[in-house]
Amino acid sequence: MFPTQRPRRLRQSPVIREMVRETRIHPSSLVMPLFIVPGKGVKRAISSMPGQFNLSVDLAAERAQELYETGVRSTLLFGVPDKKDDEGSSSWQDNGLVQEATLAIKKSVPDSCVIADVCFCEYTSHGHCGVMREGKLDNDATLERLVKQTLSLARAGVDMVAPSGMIDGAVGAMRQGLDDADFIDTIIMAYAAKMASGFYGPFREAAQATPQYGDRKTYQMDPANFEEALREVAHDIDEGADIVMVKPALAYLDVIRAAKDRFGLPTAAYNVSGEYAMVKAAAQAGWLDEKRVMLECLTAIRRAGADIIITYFAEDLAKAIRNGDC
Ligand code: PBG
Repeated sequence: MFPTQRPRRLRQSPVIREMVRETRIHPSSLVMPLFIVPGKGVKRAISSMPGQFNLSVDLAAERAQELYETGVRSTLLFGVPDKKDDEGSSSWQDNGLVQEATLAIKKSVPDSCVIADVCFCEYTSHGHCGVMREGKLDNDATLERLVKQTLSLARAGVDMVAPSGMIDGAVGAMRQGLDDADFIDTIIMAYAAKMASGFYGPFREAAQATPQYGDRKTYQMDPANFEEALREVAHDIDEGADIVMVKPALAYLDVIRAAKDRFGLPTAAYNVSGEYAMVKAAAQAGWLDEKRVMLECLTAIRRAGADIIITYFAEDLAKAIRNGDC
């Protein structure tokens, strides 16, 4: 008997393959992380993340403009200050690095979207994501300081704040603080299901944010837990999150799909530093084709249900899209 279905029929030419392609990415969904350092004219390569740089405020503004021109209209800012203290107080100064970078980017590309990561690990001398008491993270003392940081970022004009510390009650406290100060339109993109992941390794060099003792397992989630991840997403939605994020992306495609299906909110996925570094390193060794693997990974994240993808490949992907490579 001749087969009645010949699925290969739809794979015989590029024009048909493209016609039946189910998943596409638009550059407007992409967010590029930038690491802001003190000084002027500073562009320092991050060795663990080839192609990524620590940038001073002036060069970050130029970079945001370049990105905008390739179609990447959103940036996620991290501050990497010289001076750290045990509370991370430089995170809530109105002339802090991310505050200044926001002002500069909004001036050079007013229509872009500036997202600020809201956390303390880059700002604290101990490298943990909040206030420590006797070796433990003090959740509720951290909340007050998160609100201070949030308000300072809102005054600088960020479009979104993105709490990344997995501190209980962070979204609720930030929403309340923003609303009380009349920042009713500042969007909260919550790192809702963030795992205690080995894939953040290269980021910790980029942001100089390695814990000086202990680890992050008392606040970030156990990678083994799926139901808990969805409960975390539900809590953040109850507290007022506008967008929820799953992080990392590639090892957690099941969580992305479930969060999107269960809650239907705009869902972001963070294709993290280690996921980027693995592809870069293997490509440099000549073991895989960088562009092809990048497209495959990012398409998979989108296919899993991510509306927004935060990725160090944002510019390369936008260029590939423009070339018609995907
Ligand atoms: C915490 C934060 C981290 C990342 C984003 N926000 C590091 C961590 O939790 O240890 C990781 C991003 C990446 O690896 O690309 N402020």
